[in-house]
Amino acid sequence: MNRTAVASLAAAFLCACSGWQEVPAVIPPDLPLDQRVESVLAKMSVEEKVGQLMIVDMESIRPRDLRRYPIGAILNGGTSAPGNDRRDPASWLADVDDYGRAARAREGTFVPLIWGTDAVHGHNNVRGATLYPQNIGLGATRDADLVRRIGEATAVEVQATGMDWTFAPVVAVVQDAFWGRTYESFSEDPAVVASLGAASVEGLQGKAGTQAFLDDRHVIATGKHFLGDGGTKGGVDQGETAGDEETLRKVHAAGYVSTIGAGLQTVMASYSSWEGRKMHGNRDLLTGVLKGDMGFDGFVVGDWLAHSQVPGCSVDRCAAAVEAGVDMLMMTGDWRALYQHTLEEAQGGTIASVRLDDAVRRILRVKMRAGLFDKPLPAKRPLAGHFELLGSAAHRALAREAVRKSLVLLKNENALLPLPRKLNVLVAGDVADDIGRQSGGWSVSWQGITADNAKFPGAESIWSGIRKAVEAGGGRAQLSVGGRYKQKPDVAIVVFGERPYAEFHGNVQTLDFGALQPDARLLLKRLRDAGIPTVSVFTSGRPMWITPELESSNAFVAAWLPGSEGGGVADVLFRSASGVAGYDFTGTLPFSWPRTPTSVTAEEGRRGESLFPIGYGMRYTTLGVPASDASAAPVTR
Ligand code: BGC
Ligand code: BGC
Repeated sequence: MNRTAVASLAAAFLCACSGWQEVPAVIPPDLPLDQRVESVLAKMSVEEKVGQLMIVDMESIRPRDLRRYPIGAILNGGTSAPGNDRRDPASWLADVDDYGRAARAREGTFVPLIWGTDAVHGHNNVRGATLYPQNIGLGATRDADLVRRIGEATAVEVQATGMDWTFAPVVAVVQDAFWGRTYESFSEDPAVVASLGAASVEGLQGKAGTQAFLDDRHVIATGKHFLGDGGTKGGVDQGETAGDEETLRKVHAAGYVSTIGAGLQTVMASYSSWEGRKMHGNRDLLTGVLKGDMGFDGFVVGDWLAHSQVPGCSVDRCAAAVEAGVDMLMMTGDWRALYQHTLEEAQGGTIASVRLDDAVRRILRVKMRAGLFDKPLPAKRPLAGHFELLGSAAHRALAREAVRKSLVLLKNENALLPLPRKLNVLVAGDVADDIGRQSGGWSVSWQGITADNAKFPGAESIWSGIRKAVEAGGGRAQLSVGGRYKQKPDVAIVVFGERPYAEFHGNVQTLDFGALQPDARLLLKRLRDAGIPTVSVFTSGRPMWITPELESSNAFVAAWLPGSEGGGVADVLFRSASGVAGYDFTGTLPFSWPRTPTSVTAEEGRRGESLFPIGYGMRYTTLGVPASDASAAPVTR
């Protein structure tokens, strides 16, 4: 079926909305592909069609189940991994291949399995993968080309483990930093989200309309979570989005218009509600707006058990979500019951057969565009098993570049930074030598990791980067988390910040960092009283109220969640060997910085009352410190 037909079918589902933007098609028409979709669809039994409507978490399905059940997709959710948490690349590839092979062994119409993973800042479920700064840090760079290159490198690492599809990028436009997923968002500014979201999709999938699109070095991307996830009242995860349709269109839809324009193949529906209706049951927006007005011709995947929250639905039964426009339900637990119930509903007509066919057609189309019908089993694909690609030197260098560009300088009294290397440097704070803490949630595990650097082979802590820089420059560096010293240091660098979290675990009701973790505030004060010049490096998944910490520091850097390449911090803090600044600060705030512990960040920003406005960030060059030519690389903003 061509786009016009898709759109008119979608429009037939009745849309009360208007004024939404149509996105011009970027993928050239492909008649042979459309015909092939139709010929596969024509062969499929209703059981096989229903099987395509489900993606099941690996934690509750075994490969042998796929020999019997025609399930079309598998994911690894936040808490699942190959048996007994073997998160090494070889275990992942072996599992992905096992499921793929079992699905192929089933009798009936051949439809390849697709595997989805949350590679949201690098291939973060896999031990040894490169972890890029979380999206909030990339937002600070405003560097679309960098984000595109990160997408490319991430896709390659995902392909090395035989997977096809990532649930990224998040294109939420977060309005309130109370939300536990603020760090997954590029910015509170829709224009920044639109630009970086599209760049990410282009990197992950390859440029639409070229040979590179969804070739062996790329993966299918997902725009998530549609629609309004970043606008919930009070920043509550899975909450109720504030604002009218105009707000949805102008603020929250920006990243969909741009990513669909870049050839986005899948969209994940949001757990959140709007006007009291759960998005998973919102036909006007999923079918009317997304598939109809915007012309999205890929498929909509549900979020993890989110269909169960639609009124009248349960975990194992939800025709309403399918009817609303969710093409693939994300399931764990008793998936056989969901399969059985969905089958009954399809047979009985509760799920209309045109709707069933539309969903399956969309899924087949994406699988075909990704070449899956013609590819060998996962382990036989060109990049599969090339584990040297995971955390390769080139990818780590890219991540380190991203770290340098993501840092935002908020204060620099008496031009304390950049520091000469030949100093006695005290490094303190509980994040200084903790790679899990500097990486945040969705890093090797769903909720992230604390105090276990061994889980990040090949990665570097911020402390390690500082030590190397200082020692290479003839200085001396000592680490003391509590900030103790025998000989008074020339300067102290205190690295502190949030503990890792993901999703609702990260919701807060105050942005007062010191109320949550008082240690740094006390330490900074003690160092100040001792007359030691102090640099604060603050790692957080959101802007926070740190006014007391800021006042006790001579210099203050917002470092967000930099990921595995902590060395990028020292690159910018220290002068090069020749005495000039090695790299300048080029990052600027992707979010308004709160003036009070209860500020609603974006709203306060719009009133012009933030402590630092969005876009704020100091540079050495503007402070009269000469930077080397290397640092003068322009940043797109
Ligand atoms: C999250 C999604 C994620 C999915 C699969 C959900 O809880 O909201 O962002 O892709 O789980 O792990
Ligand atoms: C996450 C899943 C995770 C699950 C664990 C969900 O919200 O998105 O990926 O496995 O919670 O309870």
